[in-house]
Amino acid sequence: MFKIPHISPARLPELLRRMPKAELHIHIEGSLEPELIFALAQRNGVSLPYPDVESLRRAYAFTNLQSFLDIYYAGASVLIQEQDFYDMAWAYLQRAAADHVVHAELFFDPQTHTARGIAMETVVRGLHRACTDARAQLGVDATLILCFLRHLSEEDAFATLEQALPLRDLFIGVGLDSSELGHPPEKFARVFARCRELGLHLVAHAGEEGPPAYIWSALDELKVQRIDHGVQALKDPALVQRLAQDRIPLTVCPFSNVKLCVFPDLASSNLAQLLDAGLAVTINSDDPAYFGGYLNDNFVQTFAATGLNAHHAYTLARNSFEASFVTEAQRHDWEHQLKAVFESFSEHDF
Ligand code: HPA
Ligand code: ZN
Repeated sequence: MFKIPHISPARLPELLRRMPKAELHIHIEGSLEPELIFALAQRNGVSLPYPDVESLRRAYAFTNLQSFLDIYYAGASVLIQEQDFYDMAWAYLQRAAADHVVHAELFFDPQTHTARGIAMETVVRGLHRACTDARAQLGVDATLILCFLRHLSEEDAFATLEQALPLRDLFIGVGLDSSELGHPPEKFARVFARCRELGLHLVAHAGEEGPPAYIWSALDELKVQRIDHGVQALKDPALVQRLAQDRIPLTVCPFSNVKLCVFPDLASSNLAQLLDAGLAVTINSDDPAYFGGYLNDNFVQTFAATGLNAHHAYTLARNSFEASFVTEAQRHDWEHQLKAVFESFSEHDF
């Protein structure tokens, strides 16, 4: 075990920003800033129901997940050309690099685009090209996870998978997102079984607004490797035990939970309890352009509000690498970098 050096609380924000980390729960369409929405709308001749950036931003006052999704899908309507998808992902990856994100697994929602007549290939090739450039130019390792929209049918998910299969080498897994309540994971059991046969990694949103039963279903019916959100798990001690025993990672998104009224404020986040229960928790930004900040903002403000310390910081960063879909060698390399950064923050330096 790595002995965490003593680090003064005053230096904690700097350490949180500087430590290498992975981001595993980011919807790339949720990184579309209002300025880029307006720029793309103009480039593509799309008209928006808001006169300017400020009035669009003012509309970002959400009461629950659905109230966000309505505006999030409307924002994505400006994405038409392959270059638009590239520009969106590139903007996120530059911010990720600035936040010392060394690895990112980007969710994308192809059905939001194919339903508007955009080809699957346009979406995936644009996003993938940005990932390739990020590795070469920013030193950020980035991969793609295709999400099925759970408010649509399983048949639609199967058709989407079919369209994506010629591009199979350009994404590493599948996820499940959109409106949770009323759309339990088992609705997608057959398409997830097929994805498993194809060797794709499997994740699903569960227990964001939905009950612990949805987390059980994601584990037992979909056989997912990670749970996205999962914050409702604490309502079910047997589930917490299962998640701990199998070291199923939870990709928790503190800003998202506050903006979508899952918790009243950051201080009410149950992150510390999830960590205390021994769960493999990670911190993520979810939809940073809509929820008020990117990954380092989530770290710094959540730590300030909840009183988490340098030990928690190390655990969270380490968990992010443990939960990543990468090789053992890659994971060890990043863990080594993480230790080096913590050692460089040791009090002995002063
Ligand atoms: N939950 C479900 N679907 C989503 C989210 C989320 O937080 N963000 C983008 N799509
Ligand atoms: Zn999400």
